[in-house]
Amino acid sequence: MTTTTRVAAAAAGVLLVAAALAGVARGEDPYVFFEWKVTYGTKTLLDAPQKVILINGEFPGPRINCSSNNNIVVNVFNQLDEPLLFTWNGMQHRKNSWQDGLAGTQCPIAPGTNYTYKWQPKDQIGSFFYFPSLGMHRAAGGYGGISVVSRLLIPVPFDPPADDHMVLIGDWYTKDHAAMAKMLDAGKSFGRPHGVVINGKSGKAAADPPMFTVEAGKTYRLRVCNVGIKASLNFRIQGHDMKLVEMEGSHTVQDMYDSLDVHVGHCLSVLVDADQKPGDYYAVASTRFIHEAKSVSAVIRYSGSSTPPSPAVPEPPAGWAWSINQWRSFRWNLTASAARPNPQGSYHYGQINITRTIRLMVSRGHIDGKLKYGFNGVSHVDAETPLKLAEYFNVTDGVFRYNQMTDVPPAVNGPLHVVPNVITAEFRTFIEIIFENPEKSMDSVHLDGYAFFAVGMGPGKWSAEERKTYNLLDGVSRHSVQVYPRSWTAIMLTFDNAGMWNVRSNIWERHYLGEQLYISVVSPARSLRDEYNMPENALRCGKVVGLPLPPSYLPA
Ligand SMILES: *[C@@H]1O[C@H](CO)[C@@H](O)[C@H](O)[C@H]1NC(C)=O
Ligand SMILES: *[C@@H]1O[C@H](CO)[C@@H](O)[C@H](O)[C@H]1NC(C)=O
Ligand SMILES: *[C@@H]1O[C@H](CO)[C@@H](O)[C@H](O)[C@H]1NC(C)=O
Ligand SMILES: *[C@@H]1O[C@H](CO)[C@@H](O)[C@H](O)[C@H]1NC(C)=O
Ligand SMILES: *[C@@H]1O[C@H](CO)[C@@H](O)[C@H](O)[C@H]1NC(C)=O
Repeated sequence: MTTTTRVAAAAAGVLLVAAALAGVARGEDPYVFFEWKVTYGTKTLLDAPQKVILINGEFPGPRINCSSNNNIVVNVFNQLDEPLLFTWNGMQHRKNSWQDGLAGTQCPIAPGTNYTYKWQPKDQIGSFFYFPSLGMHRAAGGYGGISVVSRLLIPVPFDPPADDHMVLIGDWYTKDHAAMAKMLDAGKSFGRPHGVVINGKSGKAAADPPMFTVEAGKTYRLRVCNVGIKASLNFRIQGHDMKLVEMEGSHTVQDMYDSLDVHVGHCLSVLVDADQKPGDYYAVASTRFIHEAKSVSAVIRYSGSSTPPSPAVPEPPAGWAWSINQWRSFRWNLTASAARPNPQGSYHYGQINITRTIRLMVSRGHIDGKLKYGFNGVSHVDAETPLKLAEYFNVTDGVFRYNQMTDVPPAVNGPLHVVPNVITAEFRTFIEIIFENPEKSMDSVHLDGYAFFAVGMGPGKWSAEERKTYNLLDGVSRHSVQVYPRSWTAIMLTFDNAGMWNVRSNIWERHYLGEQLYISVVSPARSLRDEYNMPENALRCGKVVGLPLPPSYLPA
């Protein structure tokens, strides 16, 4: 590590240790330590003060800067008055679903206690974010960026930018997160967003300092993530085009865009040249596909500028044909560093035989008059004992049953079945998953534990014929993808990461109301080569309290 990174890290209040001495001796990857105090605070983001979730007093939370393969250690002190968990959106946690931080993989961190996460971003060079995963916490902030840079010697397909900024954009609601959860529990919707925020600001305070400053003639990297809960956003910068270079850990073919749609839960990186007349320029994020569009703007200032930004903010694109076409233009750079061969030893995922197709049709219905969402007629509900723990301790009886949902949607929409939704996938098989969204509103889906190839999307119902339209060559390998209204999206992936993995809607209302499931991928070898043992500090709850540890997995 260079002195400069050490100093920068220390200045940012992060304790960075090159490696514990013993670790160096064993050639272990460097450690990066964080200590987070999670509290409520009051912020006025839109019109009135409201309760938000702060990390070390900050909103958004501190950025996690690290290199691929670093050991990230985050000791979370829950100073809220309710249980808390953090999930690391897009981090694959190879062999380690223990650290995924969802109700299905981990017991909640009780108020007044702490829990230490430990995970490694393995070969994932790019932009990600974290957020609190329980209830509607995500609507109260508590999120922050994760940027993973390449270790030295692994080339990145562009010159180092002059600086690198996280741009966290998301819709925002003036209701308290607990009130939002209560509305959903009562069967009501919390409606449309009240505004949009960018790095925790609504752009309404004229006195706000610029979001960041640039030097004329230099190039900057912006890591843009939609950390919101419902609205797709369009992002653009007055007078500046953006060169797309990275998406959720994959280097893309570098095309120019004047605006980009960023759907909920998605992240991408662009390079922006400060090549315009020095002055102030607005970066703008505005909602897409919903009535009463909302937007936010933030100033990017050329160093020394005293010229205010022009009030003429560029218009967002209209309609979703534009958006789907833009999606089609995103391609993976197959020769860039982060591209990794699949287990079959080639980049040609299009030539691997599919062993199983899972069609996941979004279901919506009412139970006792209350709105629920699900997939294929099953609406997920969390169990008191996390599913991963129940499986590890072999006490699934009375917690959940595997495969309550079938691989094809029911022919007729019957009543929704509300249970923990856990399906099994055979270790290392190559599977196609089709998401179908018959709803009038946008969906965005996410898969934990994996990057997948987003190969196709189109309007209407999916049929096997649609496979002819797939991009079987250079679809971007990523962890989230949008599903347009009354449309389908197809992905492909190899289930080579043992664990219990959440598949979910990023639209948090849908997620909260059951549009999620877990995929249990078990390595029959029970070997440390394939999966880690439960960590020693794992919290216990439900049926696994006091149980003796099951036999350890075999040495690799
Ligand atoms: C809680 O924090 C202390 C240090 O303050 C640490 O020693 C302990 O391991 C943490 N607890 C858990 C469960 O991670
Ligand atoms: C892809 O990456 C390679 C290797 O880093 C780079 O030379 C090339 O310019 C990139 N191609 C495109 C189209 O972005
Ligand atoms: C993270 O890295 C970026 C780019 O190098 C830097 O500007 C920022 O200050 C760093 N943040 C922290 C918290 O280390
Ligand atoms: C895929 O399936 C086809 C037809 O069933 C077979 O001929 C081919 O060898 C298989 N390819 C691989 C890589 O397994
Ligand atoms: C799990 O428990 C069941 C009985 O509940 C038993 O039949 C089975 O052998 C156990 N499996 C393992 C791997 O211990």
